[in-house]
Amino acid sequence: MPPRKIIIDTDPGQDDAVAILLALASPEDLEVLGITAVAGNVPLPLTEKNARIVCELAGKPDTKVFAGCDAPIARKLVTAEHVHGKTGLDGPSLPDPTMPLQDQHAVDFIIDTLRTEPAGTVTLCPLGPLTNIAVALQRAPDIANRIQEIVLMGGAYFEVGNITPAAEFNIYVDPEAAKIVFACGAPITIMPLDVTHKALVTEPRNNAFRALGTPVGVAVAQMTDFFERFDKEKYGSAGAPLHDPCVTAYLIRPDLFTGRHINVEIETGSDLTLGMTVADWWGVTDRPANATFMGDIDSDGFFALLTERLARL
Ligand code: RIB
Ligand code: CA
Repeated sequence: MPPRKIIIDTDPGQDDAVAILLALASPEDLEVLGITAVAGNVPLPLTEKNARIVCELAGKPDTKVFAGCDAPIARKLVTAEHVHGKTGLDGPSLPDPTMPLQDQHAVDFIIDTLRTEPAGTVTLCPLGPLTNIAVALQRAPDIANRIQEIVLMGGAYFEVGNITPAAEFNIYVDPEAAKIVFACGAPITIMPLDVTHKALVTEPRNNAFRALGTPVGVAVAQMTDFFERFDKEKYGSAGAPLHDPCVTAYLIRPDLFTGRHINVEIETGSDLTLGMTVADWWGVTDRPANATFMGDIDSDGFFALLTERLARL
């Protein structure tokens, strides 16, 4: 089986960084055609820089990194320095990147790649606000039926919101973009907070990262040491939730996850519940199913996979 072709759309972010490292450590499973940065956790100049920092940390400086949209489609950017620190990658002190940023705009790269690669052979992996994906779909509606699958981190149902009482951050930052993506017709698989809040980096798990003794293992442990304080204070969590690595882990080991194919709609009209993913988990409406919404994870299996793959870098 040839490796699956993917584009990672991302707003690094410590958890994005681990997702990227897992992908780059798994060439037999995933061919990373490119990494497209979007404004989210921190502004675009930092997310594109952080994406390159992570590629160099992985020892993959030839990875193509593109800068995309620097603001949501119809709103002011909301960032999350309170979670990720002012650089977006607080924790380890990593050198500035020397690898180049690609000249092409990320949206054009997404469109061109989907039009050039055979239809149904490229998976989009959004790990941040969906602005780049939505703008690509607006500019080139023909790409929708050429997408193999969109596997994204975002949303919540039983877990409710992490940035407002109703909304998860990635969806909340650009709800109009999310509405476009969820209506595009491509197969969608969602890793919501319902799953990612079960992928907690407990102390033994973080010690296993550190015990790798490699620059990657130590950096990931330091990222987690920084990143966990938000969730520990807010939720009393046993550790940092590894939101975005659930996306790349799903592509490698889908058996680690269980969910339901249901209807998921995005609230864009109400200030009170803006960005809420209205997930018809119990099938109480006749709205057509448009997404596979994950509800559970084998977290021990997830961390075994992650630790084994990070050890390769
Ligand atoms: O709500 C969690 C999501 O928001 C993650 O993707 C994190 O990196 C931030 O982008
Ligand atoms: Ca992210």
